[in-house]
Amino acid sequence: MIKAVRGTRDLLPPETGLWNFVESAVRDVFRAYNFQEIRTPIFESTELFARGVGEETDVVSKEMFTWSDGERFDEEALATEWIARGVEEKRFSVESATPLNSYLNPLRIRFINRIPDSPEFVCFRPKATLEAVELLLKARSDVKSPEFLLRYPQDADYFRRFEISLRIVVPSGTADSASWIDTRGVEVEQFQNRTPVFKSSQSLTLRPENTAGVVRAYIEHNLEKRGLNKLYYIGPQFRRERPQKGRYRQFYQIGAEVIGPPSAGSESPARDAEVLEMLATLLDRLGIQGWKLELNSVGTPGDRVQFNQALRAALEPMVGQMCDDCQRRAVTNPLRVFDCKVPADQPIIETLPRITQFLGEDSRKHFEAVQDILKRVGVEFQMNDRLVRGLDYYTRTAFEFTHGALGAQNAILGGGRYDGLSEALGGPAAPGIGFAIGEDRLVMSLRATAEDVLRKPDVFVAPMAGMNGEAARLARELRRQQVAVELGDDTFRLKKSFEAATKAGAKYILIVGENEVKADAFAVKNLATGDQVSVPRGELAARIRG
Ligand code: HAM
Repeated sequence: MIKAVRGTRDLLPPETGLWNFVESAVRDVFRAYNFQEIRTPIFESTELFARGVGEETDVVSKEMFTWSDGERFDEEALATEWIARGVEEKRFSVESATPLNSYLNPLRIRFINRIPDSPEFVCFRPKATLEAVELLLKARSDVKSPEFLLRYPQDADYFRRFEISLRIVVPSGTADSASWIDTRGVEVEQFQNRTPVFKSSQSLTLRPENTAGVVRAYIEHNLEKRGLNKLYYIGPQFRRERPQKGRYRQFYQIGAEVIGPPSAGSESPARDAEVLEMLATLLDRLGIQGWKLELNSVGTPGDRVQFNQALRAALEPMVGQMCDDCQRRAVTNPLRVFDCKVPADQPIIETLPRITQFLGEDSRKHFEAVQDILKRVGVEFQMNDRLVRGLDYYTRTAFEFTHGALGAQNAILGGGRYDGLSEALGGPAAPGIGFAIGEDRLVMSLRATAEDVLRKPDVFVAPMAGMNGEAARLARELRRQQVAVELGDDTFRLKKSFEAATKAGAKYILIVGENEVKADAFAVKNLATGDQVSVPRGELAARIRG
């Protein structure tokens, strides 16, 4: 039996009902705070996470799913050189801006107008494959089809007149010049190219988190023009961690980021407080009780210069007794020592200086302002000066919400400011703050059960023999009136229909027999009370919805 890979899992109904419940509540709350959805790719170039999240973090150094996507054939490079050389030799010109191009581009076929001969379709491939031949033949038959000529009358005459020839261009040395290719009227040209036509390989990574992806998109699409961006996402993330309760290799995050140019107020402590207040509202709204907000400030890189010195000095006499990771971190990135989970190292870590002692005036004021607003709006928090978060991009405010019921993996969510991330990725100054909720853990800490939130069918429609069509018609009418219908089958005996209706959790069963159809009124039985009434077709939906 093939099973789901370790650390991944299937989410099945009825539990998916809880996930839908959470996601729809979350979308409502995000709307109330004027956040809009962003969807970024599930994989990105590895460099994004190395630069964004930090090479020294556990996530990047140990937990990423990374692969090389190998050498890719660069059709564009071959086509450009082939055409350029042809133009020099006055062989052809390239037609452009015809509707034809929008048809051919997805097939990766070029339309070339030979001078003074006939036009041709050219397909650039590393090999002359059967697939390439099929595409060329299809393209030619399509452009000569009456539908195409009718749709694009401006090109119609041209294509009617010419016999279009077909050609596959392959870089020399890679050609597969099987004889069948010529017999199908497709020529193969081996081309001595000068530019490399294989792109070098690229390292790709399944996203372990989404903040770096959002900031990449912010830079790539010049989102700074929009001022303050308030974006949220819901989706899977991937980390190669040791699986245990609440920790998976594919897990889901619900996250949000507030990011924009400083002129849009992105640095203001009001944004930090708003994000935290929104999270408190969200957890309350979902009925999660007993959550704790832990707060810290990790300062700016400037504040950390002195802190790192102090940390290194404090570590020096003791680091020899610590784990290998800490020994390395003490040299490369001493702040990361606080991520250490090794029990034997904890007493040493307890004695280390804390970042809060090194905050500059600006950072301290910023942090105090965040706390003031939180007190004003009545969001409780606790200070935790060991909280440094496991990702390198954090600056100033850092936080986690924890929940006792979750056991060892007790962080439901974490986040903070990342004022320098955009610049670290080559973008403009774009301070930001955000968070990500572990959706798997959030669902675990819900008091609601799938029973509470799952919508069961309102009615089970049970066709008698030969009545499948009538039953389907009735089900269609009811569903259009927002009644949730489970539809049976006319091979079921009545007893089996009742069993199926009960199993599906339907409130009513509705019998569709010949007599009912003739009378246009149907027997509706309440499965809990056993009460049965005959209801005219037009009143069924209202009656069932109650
Ligand atoms: P993070 O603390 O690495 O932050 O992850 C956020 C949350 O994702 C955690 O608190 C936890 O609930 C959940 N989580 C992490 N790893 C796993 C796992 N293996 N299995 C189940 N749940 C997990 C970030 O990812 C940042 N991008 C958050 C952020 C957004 N900071 C600023 N903006």
